[in-house]
Amino acid sequence: MIEFSDVSKIYGNFWAALSDINIKIDQGEFVFVTGPTGAGKTTLLRLIYRDELPTKGIVKVFGHNLTTLRKKIIPELRRQIGIVFQDFKLLYERTAYENLEFSLRVIGIPKSVIKKKISDTMERLGIGHKSDSYPFELSGGEQQKVSLARALIKDPLILLADEPTGNIDPDGAAEILNIFREINYTGTTVIMATHNTKLAKSSRKRCIALDKGNLISDGSI
Ligand SMILES: Nc1ncnc2c1ncn2[C@@H]1O[C@H](COP(=O)(O)OP(=O)(O)OP(=O)(O)O)[C@@H](O)[C@H]1O
Ligand SMILES: [Mg+2]
Repeated sequence: MIEFSDVSKIYGNFWAALSDINIKIDQGEFVFVTGPTGAGKTTLLRLIYRDELPTKGIVKVFGHNLTTLRKKIIPELRRQIGIVFQDFKLLYERTAYENLEFSLRVIGIPKSVIKKKISDTMERLGIGHKSDSYPFELSGGEQQKVSLARALIKDPLILLADEPTGNIDPDGAAEILNIFREINYTGTTVIMATHNTKLAKSSRKRCIALDKGNLISDGSI
């Protein structure tokens, strides 16, 4: 479903954010991407949703080579991918509710089901009481949960989560992992980037470890 063949991403003329990466992720897998700051975790995720193209090698998602994928197809690809950004990327002039509403509208979900879907998802993440708040009125952890809700609400085939527990207390982090496990159980491929190796290890899932753009290990730990 996701395949990297000899993928390198070089910024500027020489900075290799990723070097010769070979990985294959099947539908329904739960994978952690770990490594210290600057290891290349975010870059790897950005290549999957075609926010960046590889400098060398091939990235395939759903069988499409993303380098040669026609521009017209990109929105279709992204519709299937829920993304939790490291810096949230919420719309700051819209409330939490409106942020979720917007993401459902753009993928054509009918108005009749939007309201219930939003309230269910917000309740599930424990932020139902914040639906009318603007992002600047929310704590970092609450903003992170809104960004998580926005990704989950699309029922994506792939969930990419970049440091989704970075602003959340340990209990909350465990709770989010549980939600990811449930989502994964229903068939969604979950790829979670984190520098919290302890959290990744304790889950006993596949772990792709990066350091300075190199693949250090890939397997269950
Ligand atoms: N747009 C860019 N232009 C130039 N260099 C970049 C760009 N994006 C990333 N890099 C560099 O590539 C390397 C990998 O960055 P990346 O954001 O993938 O790391 P990361 O593992 O996600 O780190 P963190 O844990 O801090 O989020 C870093 O050295 C970074 O400075
Ligand atoms: Mg990052």
